[in-house]
Formats: sequence, structure tokens, C-alpha cells
Amino acid sequence: MNSSTPDYSNRMIQQLYLLRYAPAYIYEYEAFYEALMDLEGSTSFLRIFSIGSGSGLDYYGAYRAIKKKGLPPDFLYYSGIDVIDWYYRTTLNNHRYYFYKQDVTRLYSLPDRFINVLFFPKSISEFSNESFSRLLEVICNTAFSREQINICASVRRSRLEDDYKRLVKIVECLLLKGDYTLDLTHNSLEDNVQGESIFYPEDIFHFLSNLRDYCPAYRRRICRGERDCDTLNRKPMKDTGYRQYWIIRLVRKERN
Ligand SMILES: C[S@@+](CC[C@H](N)C(=O)[O-])C[C@H]1O[C@@H](n2cnc3c(N)ncnc32)[C@H](O)[C@@H]1O
Repeated sequence: MNSSTPDYSNRMIQQLYLLRYAPAYIYEYEAFYEALMDLEGSTSFLRIFSIGSGSGLDYYGAYRAIKKKGLPPDFLYYSGIDVIDWYYRTTLNNHRYYFYKQDVTRLYSLPDRFINVLFFPKSISEFSNESFSRLLEVICNTAFSREQINICASVRRSRLEDDYKRLVKIVECLLLKGDYTLDLTHNSLEDNVQGESIFYPEDIFHFLSNLRDYCPAYRRRICRGERDCDTLNRKPMKDTGYRQYWIIRLVRKERN
């Protein structure tokens, strides 16, 4: 975690995060899972392990994608792990939903080796270099057993290069173990899909975009963290045209 990381254990920070980003991210994750299922050779059955799952926005996206395709909800098997148990989560009555409240870097290996999707929903950049090295070990210690495993990340544009390098490191480490070979890579730029527009009631949009005005310290001009103060005025996301994700697929090598 770096100093600019918000304190996600704070309920109000969670509320703000979700008010600003939940609609856009859910659409974004839905489009991601749809694209993943549409790739040639994909199985419609999703068994996901989501690292840094937060309130499970990617789970809702996957749920919507499965529904849109007319598939039954039991095609979706989801495990999320997060060091924080967010206040706002729901299983949507799917008993194939698991949540692990844990720091993933403290595990020896991932708890589910039958997954076919390993996903980082806006979370791959949250790790320090040191904790990312540990995470790499955890992933590489996992005895994955599916025919296909999709290593995926949805990221913010500000850290594209570093985040992609991290994803590639994970892939390299799995390739080195020798059980899998590279099948395909896909990135959102190839989708060419129109972003969705998100409607916010005017008063809510205005309130969230001018939150700083409600801060007593700012009003009395005695605030200390000027930069933190600016982030209070971040606008909610009103469209999904900025989304960025990568899919790198590995397939199991033929056994002799
Ligand atoms: C930017 S939030 C993204 C939340 C959610 N995935 C989303 O799409 O909105 C990053 C999440 O990663 C989690 N996280 C950071 N380091 C972690 C670790 N070492 N183990 C598990 N979760 C971690 C944080 O607690 C936070 O919930």
C-alpha cells in the first residue's frame, strides 16, 4: 500500500468510492466478462478468483454477463479475496460465491486451483513491489489444474505500463513451471465497443463533485492536506469509454 491509497476500511470511503465508481465499473466488468466468453475457445462456465475483490463489483459484472447470455447462474463460480471485508457485498443468492477476508500475500498458494479466470479488478497496482513479489510466489505455488486459465486485469489508465509488466510477470512465472503454454492475448483496445453512459441525478452529481465545500477545515482555510482536499471533489464516472483490460490465456500442455 502506498501513501496515496485510500483507507478502504473506512465505511465512508467505501460509500464515496461506490457512489462514484460502482455503476461505471459494473458495466465495465460486464463488458470484460462478455468479451472473455466471446473469445474463441472460451468455456461459458466461469470459475473466477478475484484478487482485491472489494465489494465484488466484478462479481456483479460477471453475473450480468452470464444472464445476458441466457446462461444459468450456476455457470458462475466466484471466489473473491480482500484484506478488507467491505460493508457492501452480496452473494446475489448464489451459493457458488466465496469470500476470503485475508491478505493474499500471506497465503502459501491460492485456495482454489480449479479456477479458469484469475482476475485483478483495479487491484494489481495496489501492491508494493515487495508485496507483489510475494503475490507472485503465492500464484506460482498454486497447482492449477484446468485446461485453460485466463490471467486478467482491469486497470486505471494512469499506471498502464507498470500494471501490464506485472501481469506479464505472473504469466512468465506460470510458463516457466512448464504445465501451460501461451494461447492468446487480448486487450480492450481490440473490442472497439462503445462506452455506456451513466445517469446520475443532477443534485447527487453536484453534491459529489463539490464535496470539499462541506469540509469545515477547508471552509475555514485551515486544512493541512491540500491534495487530499482536491480528491474530495472527484466527479462520479459518467461513462465507461475509458476502460482498459487485458486477457492472457494459457492452455495446459498435452501430457505424453
Ligand atoms: C481499488 S480497490 C478495488 C476494489 C474492487 N475490486 C473494485 O473493482 O472496485 C483495491 C482493493 O484491493 C484490496 N487489496 C489491496 N492489497 C491487498 C492484499 N494484499 N490482499 C487482499 N486484498 C488487497 C484493497 O483492500 C481494496 O479493496
